[in-house]
This record gives sequence, structure tokens and C-alpha cells, in this order.
Amino acid sequence: MQLKNVIAISAIAGLASAANSTLTTATPDVTSHCSFSDFTATASNQVQSVAACETAVGDITIQGTAFGTVELTGLQQLYGSLHVLNATQATTVNAPTLQLVSGELEFNANTILSNLNLAQLTTVGSLTLNALPALDNTGLTAGLTSADSVVISDTGLSSLTGINVYQLKVFNVNNNDNIDTIDSGLREVTDTIDISYNAEKVDVILNQLTGAKNIVLQSINSFSAPNLTLANGSIAISSSSIEKVEFAELTSIGNSLTINKNEDLTELDFPQLKSIGGALQVSDNDELKSFAGFPKLQTIGGSVNINGTFDNGTFESLSRVAGGFILKTDGDLSCSAFNKLNTNGDIKGDKFQCEDKQTTSSSSSRKSNSDSTDSSDSTETGSNSGSSSTSSGSSSSTSSRRNGAASNTGKLASVVAGFAAVGVALF
Ligand SMILES: *[C@@H]1O[C@H](CO)[C@@H](O)[C@H](O)[C@H]1NC(C)=O
Ligand SMILES: *[C@@H]1O[C@H](CO)[C@@H](O)[C@H](O)[C@H]1NC(C)=O
Ligand SMILES: *[C@@H]1O[C@H](CO)[C@@H](O)[C@H](O)[C@H]1NC(C)=O
Ligand SMILES: *[C@@H]1O[C@H](CO)[C@@H](O)[C@H](O)[C@H]1NC(C)=O
Ligand SMILES: *[C@@H]1O[C@H](CO)[C@@H](O)[C@H](O)[C@H]1NC(C)=O
Ligand SMILES: *[C@@H]1O[C@H](CO)[C@@H](O)[C@H](O)[C@H]1NC(C)=O
Repeated sequence: MQLKNVIAISAIAGLASAANSTLTTATPDVTSHCSFSDFTATASNQVQSVAACETAVGDITIQGTAFGTVELTGLQQLYGSLHVLNATQATTVNAPTLQLVSGELEFNANTILSNLNLAQLTTVGSLTLNALPALDNTGLTAGLTSADSVVISDTGLSSLTGINVYQLKVFNVNNNDNIDTIDSGLREVTDTIDISYNAEKVDVILNQLTGAKNIVLQSINSFSAPNLTLANGSIAISSSSIEKVEFAELTSIGNSLTINKNEDLTELDFPQLKSIGGALQVSDNDELKSFAGFPKLQTIGGSVNINGTFDNGTFESLSRVAGGFILKTDGDLSCSAFNKLNTNGDIKGDKFQCEDKQTTSSSSSRKSNSDSTDSSDSTETGSNSGSSSTSSGSSSSTSSRRNGAASNTGKLASVVAGFAAVGVALF
């Protein structure tokens, strides 16, 4: 724990000096009464002993039912983590002088907290707001400019005012019923953007985003990332009311691309995309009649699994699919072009299956280079175990509807653990 804090502090120092902030230089010397070791405060006088320190070192947890107000005025910098947990009687957390928390700043399961004052806070290792149904304002007046991860889950917030960070490892906004627009200046996310199950129709606008690893979007209404050129993990867009999926400048996806169960989706547009490192899955999008949105796509490193009512769909440039290929359409699209891909040898996987309206039974074949002795004619659906393993790249870090506080806590542990390395690499 001690070591982790030291690493975290040096990472923050790197961030802060790039922003020319005077907040941090090195681990400060503090008097013993401002050095806390896994300190848990359950009464106001114990919180006062923390607030009496301008600079404190250590990990502090404030929890329990003894507080109507958690009063931290006075504390400016905490080298360590601050958790306010399960303070179920607290309506107010007042930390107007707090500028920095080098580790995790967490507010979790404070069920009636409605007034959070973080007026001067600019720098945190990570910020977690979870299970705060009464909170409608972040209280970040100055605004957060340095953070490694931001997780906002199951709150009453309607906007993310004051989260002005350009680079993050994790940006996760899920299950906030009142957030219907996320318009962020984020430029780079080195691990995962996950925006899932907020208000019924969320418009996600990330116009400055140029690079990301994984992108997970669920239950969104629209998505805009016109400057995104690289996603070296996976992209998954599912269970959304989005009508058009457009990635105007994206040239490469490191792992898989999944577009699944978007019932209003009518158009895919990936005009610059040349390679998908993992699997491509386009499935169960009821209104999608064409998948002709991949004019430059040359290589797919995993398998292809596409189904729907397609009248149209081509891969003009596709010359290599490392995995199998399964296409099922009950629209007017014919399998002939895809059969050609297969006979050309462009599909390397052991399975090729294409079913269109003409071939109601099957035109599938087991490829000759199959290492399987199985003599089935592979009309079986859903037997693509190869594709499911390649497409699972981001599934462990995705949000589901109504995450409990407990499951988010686990997720955060790994987020915090990854902090130091990324913090240093940011600038
Ligand atoms: C940082 O701020 C100081 C004082 O405001 C200024 O003199 C210095 O030029 C700044 N450094 C950078 C790199 O901006
Ligand atoms: C939260 O507080 C309630 C009431 O004091 C208690 O029953 C519950 O166990 C606490 N939960 C956690 C996770 O501390
Ligand atoms: C993947 O992207 C992240 C964020 O842009 C970057 O830190 C990392 O180095 C990239 N990895 C590769 C293999 O390109
Ligand atoms: C993002 O894209 C818009 C329009 O496509 C452009 O005007 C802007 O300069 C771009 N921003 C960055 C950071 O590339
Ligand atoms: C489409 O493909 C997905 C993924 O393989 C599968 O779960 C789904 O059942 C398929 N839908 C139809 C109608 O075949
Ligand atoms: C299929 O796409 C082509 C080229 O985009 C277009 O000209 C044609 O009208 C489309 N056909 C159908 C049935 O949508």
C-alpha cells in the first residue's frame, strides 16, 4: 500500500507539472497527526482531525450513519485515498478547499447525499461516484483536469459538469437515469470508454477523441467521434436506438467490432477502416438492410459473423479473413459474391457458411483445410466458437444495467492498480 501511494504520487506529479500546476512535487513531510494509516472515521470529531490538516498522507474512509454533514473544510491535499461510504444519513459533503487526492476519491452508497462541494478539486488519481441517487451536481466548480479514471454510476446527475480531463485510462458512465447528453473534450482514453444504460436516449459526443482502446456503448441514441483514428482494442455497440453508426476517420480496430441488437440501425459507415484485428459481428439489427459501409476493409483477424435481412452488402476490398465466415440473410442479398471470397482462398478459417433466400437449406461447406474430422456439413448455427473467443476482448470490463455498488468496487480495484504506468505516459 505504501509503495502504491508513492508511485501514484509521482505519476500525479508528472501530470501536474505538465499542466504547470504547483500542486505536487514530492511526498510531503507531515506531522504525525496528519499521517493516517487506513483510518476509518465514524464520528464527526474524527473527520475534524482530518480536516485540521492542510496536507494529509494516508488512506481515509468515512462511513456510517453518524453524519448529516461530512465537513472537510481545511483539507487541501490528500496523498492517499478518500472514501465516503455508506454515509446514509449524510445530505452534504463539504470539501471546498480540497485540491488534490492522489489515490482514489470515492463516494459510494450515500443514498441521500445531495450536496457535494468539491469547488477547488482539480487533481485525483481516480474519481468514483457510485450509488448516489440524490446527487444532481458534481460540485466540481474549478473542474477536474487531471485524473486517471472517472467512473460515474447510478447517480442522479444529469450532466458531467466539471469533468474536464483530456486523457484518461477509464471513462465509465453507466446507469445514470438523468444523463441524456455526454459531450466531452476527451482526447484519448488508453483503456476503456464505457457508456451504458443511462437515460433512455443518450447522445454521446466525443468530437476531440483521437485514440481509444476499447469502446463499449449500450443503450445510446447517437455517437459522434469524427476524429477517432485508432481503437486498438474492441468496439461494441449494442442494445441501442442509434440509427447510424459512423466512424469517419477510423482506420484500424485492434480487436473485434460488434454491432448487435440495435433495433433502429439503418446505416453503417466506416469509410476509412482498413483492418479489424479480431472478429466482426453484425447481428440482430432488425432494420439494417445493408452492411455496405466498409469500402476499404482489407483484413479481418478473427472470424466474420453477420446475420439480418440484408438487401445489400459487400466488402469491396476484403482480401483476408483469418477466421471462419458465417453470413445469413433473409433479404435480397445473394451469397454469390461471398462464395467467391471463399473459393479465392481469402477466408482462412475452417468454416465458411453463407445462407441467402435462394439457399433456404444451406450452401455451406467445411473447408478443405479443416483440421476437423467432423463430417457435419456445418449448417449448424452458432457453432462459431472461434469468433466468440476473439470477440470477448472487452467483455470483462463492460457495464451491465444496474450495477450494484459491490460489483463496481471490484472493477475499481483494477482501475487503481493500473494507475501509475498510465499516468506517467500521458504527456
Ligand atoms: C509555469 O508557471 C510559471 C509561473 O506562473 C511560469 O513562469 C512558467 O513559465 C510556466 N512554465 C510553463 C512550462 O508553462
Ligand atoms: C451500510 O449501512 C447499513 C446501515 O448502517 C448497514 O446495515 C450495512 O451493512 C452497511 N453496508 C456496508 C457495505 O457497509
Ligand atoms: C493502444 O492504445 C493505447 C492508447 O492509445 C496506447 O497507450 C497503447 O500503446 C496502444 N497499444 C498498441 C499496441 O498500439
Ligand atoms: C475534430 O474534427 C473536427 C471536424 O471534423 C475538426 O474541425 C477539428 O479540428 C478536429 N479536432 C481535432 C482535435 O482533431
Ligand atoms: C445472429 O447471430 C448472433 C451471434 O452469432 C446469434 O446470437 C443470433 O441468434 C443470430 N440471429 C439469428 C436471427 O440467426
Ligand atoms: C445497394 O447498394 C448500391 C450501392 O450503394 C446501390 O446503388 C443500390 O441501390 C443498393 N440496392 C439496394 C436494394 O438497396
